Amino acid sequence: MPPADSLTRSEALWTAVDRYVAETLMAPDPVLDAALAANTAANLPAIDVSPTQGRFLQLLAQVQRAHRILEIGTLGGYSTICLARALPPGGQLVTLELDPRHAKVALANIAHAGLAHAVELRLGPALQSLAQLHAERVDPFDLIFIDADKPGYPDYLPWALKLSRPGTLILADNVIRDGGVADPNNTDPAVVGARRYLEMLAADPRLSTAVMQTVGSKGYDGFAFAHVLSL
Ligand code: SAH
Ligand code: DHB
Ligand code: MG
Repeated sequence: MPPADSLTRSEALWTAVDRYVAETLMAPDPVLDAALAANTAANLPAIDVSPTQGRFLQLLAQVQRAHRILEIGTLGGYSTICLARALPPGGQLVTLELDPRHAKVALANIAHAGLAHAVELRLGPALQSLAQLHAERVDPFDLIFIDADKPGYPDYLPWALKLSRPGTLILADNVIRDGGVADPNNTDPAVVGARRYLEMLAADPRLSTAVMQTVGSKGYDGFAFAHVLSL
């Protein structure tokens, strides 16, 4: 590990570059700014994706031409809004949230973004909502974003696959955790969950998998990508 002062300088630099990128290629976004302000006012934890990551999610949904998006872990709806903006007319995003306080803030933010018509929030433990969606035989999703409790990721993957089609992109946030994921002796339940999730991806021949480390205003973390080749 590099010394702490060098890490601190890095975080400051990553944040400055994130700000530069946002200023250079992202227009002012009063809707997302208002969502963050509402989250802060409601004391929600500031663990949303960063603005530049949100733009990346939107771009992925566009590349994927996603008509149906599933999100596991809504918080205040920041990533929900970013993803839902990529939907074509008639498209739908279903987002799953356990905490009614978070859900209430998210629904207001989503309505303020003019996306209420496209977003359905299901309140409750994600595992129950996933089983319910499957029981309802909903159409498969084109993109699935896993971003709820990290220890739950290994349990979410089989349900994500049940709700997929060949071609679906399953994306998971926070799989690097300050590099903790590379340490087999790390017992942080979030790290253990991420490691198990990545092992499951690697062991599944139906999936084409990649991991990207990220740095920025939200620190050092990363995304896991799994492209469903067949089912
Ligand atoms: N995707 C959001 C951040 C989500 S933070 C964004 O980037 O803007 C993780 C969220 O998952 C929290 O709101 C938390 O309440 C929720 N969560 C935790 N455990 C859950 C569970 N078992 N089922 C559904 N949601 C859960
Ligand atoms: C945490 C959760 C997130 O989804 C995230 O992006 C960062 C941190 C957390 O629970 O600590
Ligand atoms: Mg996250």
